[in-house]
Amino acid sequence: MSPDRNRLHLAIQKSGRLSEQSRDLLKGAGLKLSQSGKNHLAARAENFPLDLMLVRDDDIPTFVADGVCELGIVGQNVLEEYALGQPERRIEELLRLGFGRCSLRIAGPESADEFALDRLQGQRIATSYPRLLGRFLEQRGIDAEVVTMRGAVELAPRLGIAGYICDLVSTGATLEANGLTALADVFDSEAVLIRTRRPIDGAHAEKADALLTRIEGVIATAE
Ligand code: PRP
Ligand code: ZN
Ligand code: MG
Repeated sequence: MSPDRNRLHLAIQKSGRLSEQSRDLLKGAGLKLSQSGKNHLAARAENFPLDLMLVRDDDIPTFVADGVCELGIVGQNVLEEYALGQPERRIEELLRLGFGRCSLRIAGPESADEFALDRLQGQRIATSYPRLLGRFLEQRGIDAEVVTMRGAVELAPRLGIAGYICDLVSTGATLEANGLTALADVFDSEAVLIRTRRPIDGAHAEKADALLTRIEGVIATAE
């Protein structure tokens, strides 16, 4: 499926914490969305020249940086993790969207009052955010081993893979279900609208600006 260059492309998370509210935001901005294609990897706006690409959140910065999608909605956590690995800034953060708030936190199977950051010295910490965690540890002079896992990070202490984890906490239910306590705050995040820094050609650029104005309107009303 090669993108239709007569339309704008906006990448959103296919399924996960941000999917529903990303769609609701676009509907709130007046877009009439319909499923397109059998595989449900794309959707289109019927009343605006915009196609939605429904992808894994972790892939959204890559699509937008490469200009495959001119726009995207993604968590600042995913965006910053990506940016720390990319010296050239190829993505512009346009607007905070006020949903998908969460924090990247270090957690472990101990109580918060026993804990001090120094206890992490020489420990193993499992995470899907090795760059954000690495920066945090370096800034505080903590020498710990970062173990990268793509999912199910909460299981690491029980499996003996690592003593601590660093993962996203939203409601806290996942930590609680796994007998873990949040011990330190690494990065606070919410969903943001992003745009490629690659040039968007004339008519498309105007469409992108028009969409941004509509979305800003929705956010301003919600505040
Ligand atoms: C995050 C994180 C936890 C969960 C925490 O995953 O990895 O699994 O949310 O939420 P809670 O505190 O409300 O229980 P997320 O859905 O953001 O994304 P991922 O599947 O892309 O890791
Ligand atoms: Zn993800
Ligand atoms: Mg998860």
